[in-house]
Amino acid sequence: MTDIRTVGVIGAGQMGAGIAQVAAQAGFDVILSDIDQARAEKGVAGIAKLLARAVEKEKISAADADATLARITPVGDVAPLAGAQLVIEAATEREEIKRAIFANVGAVLAADAILATNTSSIPITRLAQAAPDAGRFVGVHFFNPVPVMALVEVIRGLATSQETVAAVEAFASKLGKTTVHAFDAPGFVVNRILLPMLNEAIFALGEGVGGVVDIDTGVKLGLNHPMGPLTLADFVGLDTCLEICKVLQDTTGDPKYRPAPLLVKYVEAGWFGRKTGRGFYDYSGPEPVPTR
Ligand code: CAA
Repeated sequence: MTDIRTVGVIGAGQMGAGIAQVAAQAGFDVILSDIDQARAEKGVAGIAKLLARAVEKEKISAADADATLARITPVGDVAPLAGAQLVIEAATEREEIKRAIFANVGAVLAADAILATNTSSIPITRLAQAAPDAGRFVGVHFFNPVPVMALVEVIRGLATSQETVAAVEAFASKLGKTTVHAFDAPGFVVNRILLPMLNEAIFALGEGVGGVVDIDTGVKLGLNHPMGPLTLADFVGLDTCLEICKVLQDTTGDPKYRPAPLLVKYVEAGWFGRKTGRGFYDYSGPEPVPTR
């Protein structure tokens, strides 16, 4: 089985940085790559902040935080990923972007390295067509916030080898995560169930069934969810929610997945949720304020 010591992570956004953090905390050397050095360094700065908070709360020692940070190397291109035994792509949830990345990485990837994607819904078998070797290509789907969420979905494409699956399972387990297997069907297990719920909450808001607070409080207290669906949609990113709905709709042809018109409108307005400062809540003040 591939002996994973160095992990490459492509994309230093909230998912990529989270994956880099947990891998470094588990003792792996990490190369965190983005399209330029500044973005990669911004990702590391975010990790440093979270680690500092954990030190403050006495969850980890200052020495452990320093050692974790020292294991992460931010880079502004893909060439250094040649030194990784596992590369995890966690870029924007758009197929053309992922395909372009796989072409670039394919040119430098070591012959026995595994390429994994953190896609939240795009079929692995289809993406594998753009990967250097479909046998060493696999889905590893983390959840946000990565340091907190205990699950990793492992998705095997039609051509993914058993050794590849075993290697990423062993890796996830070293990170302290529980794995579940998902068949390569649209949305896999979790998003197949989550996105219709978030989308339905947005339909309900658009139809005036309740306001933002009614819907979020209703689900939070009525179903004992840690966050209401509109808060969670803002947290995941409304652009990402829309992309996943589109994948579910396009790949199944089933109209039950059609995106809520209000979701489309918010994305058109550039209101992507927490990351842009506005979604179903306004995040510009000290506390989120509902916008409807
Ligand atoms: N990064 C790292 N750690 C974080 C964090 C972040 N962004 N946000 C919160 N935490 C940590 C806190 O430091 C705290 O840690 P300790 O217990 O060690 O002190 C812990 O999480 C709890 O945080 P808080 O007390 O501040 O807040 P909370 O109790 O309200 O929990 C939450 C916050 C963990 C995010 C919780 O609200 C939650 O579980 N929400 C649901 C998240 C969820 O459903 N995620 C999946 C999204 S779907 C997805 O990711 C898949 C996809 O493809 C779309």
